[in-house]
Amino acid sequence: MADAALEDPRLSQLSDVLDDDRSDLDAYVDRAIELGARSVLDIGCGTGTLACLLGRRGLEVTAVDPAATSLDVARRKPYADRVRWILGNAATLPPLQVELVTMTGNVAQVFLSEDEWAHTPEAARAALQPQGHLVFEVRNNERQAWWEWNRERSYRCLERPGRSTVETWVELTEVSLPFISFRSTFVFTDDGLVLTSDSTLRFRSQAEIQSSLCSAGFAAVTVGEAPDRPGRELVFMATPAGAHKSDGNCSRI
Ligand SMILES: C[S@@+](CC[C@H](N)C(=O)[O-])C[C@H]1O[C@@H](n2cnc3c(N)ncnc32)[C@H](O)[C@@H]1O
Repeated sequence: MADAALEDPRLSQLSDVLDDDRSDLDAYVDRAIELGARSVLDIGCGTGTLACLLGRRGLEVTAVDPAATSLDVARRKPYADRVRWILGNAATLPPLQVELVTMTGNVAQVFLSEDEWAHTPEAARAALQPQGHLVFEVRNNERQAWWEWNRERSYRCLERPGRSTVETWVELTEVSLPFISFRSTFVFTDDGLVLTSDSTLRFRSQAEIQSSLCSAGFAAVTVGEAPDRPGRELVFMATPAGAHKSDGNCSRI
């Protein structure tokens, strides 16, 4: 399911201000460098910030997303010409053999049905070289961060030189675990235009994710934290089963 808010062309103009702090991506760039990855697939790349950062460092990057307007924004970023952009999802990828697959910005939570989710690590596995790595994050559901999703805590006023200021916030609309729904609101203060977007995320447990990675053919799954959001995120790193002699069983380190 593509994020409806990002599919609205008027909102895609806001991506620079909405994406002004992407320090969450530093850990992914560092991980790619540490692993010595020369080729990367970024699933659910959105407006392409990570893909462009990696392209800038000379990595061969393929980036896929089903939201055409997000890819339009991505293609206009510096170093975008070094990235292969694909409109679609993990199921529609051409044959690939990369050294690293990433899913940043909690993309793994947009897959609401079990089938939709299961196909994603399977496609990542198929796109990976035997010694490759899958790295992605989800929100730590034990933290129950959705109770913070209200106007008071999330309100931002986005100043855009020469253009309308935009007020934005998110509000929790439904808690029906494992599904959490929220509404994003954007108010363009010059003409009062109000845009809203309703989204639902699925919060899977660590054990459920671990199990789906094993079913998809991954082993030696490690689970860590996002350094910029301590206690709030679970960061999974998985290698294809059989990549190491000790990987006879799907195991957690
Ligand atoms: C929260 S955004 C994260 C974007 C990007 N990874 C980032 O860190 O900025 C979630 C992204 O998932 C994408 N998405 C939705 N459904 C998807 C699917 N079936 N396959 C791949 N990406 C999907 C959306 O279009 C959106 O760009």
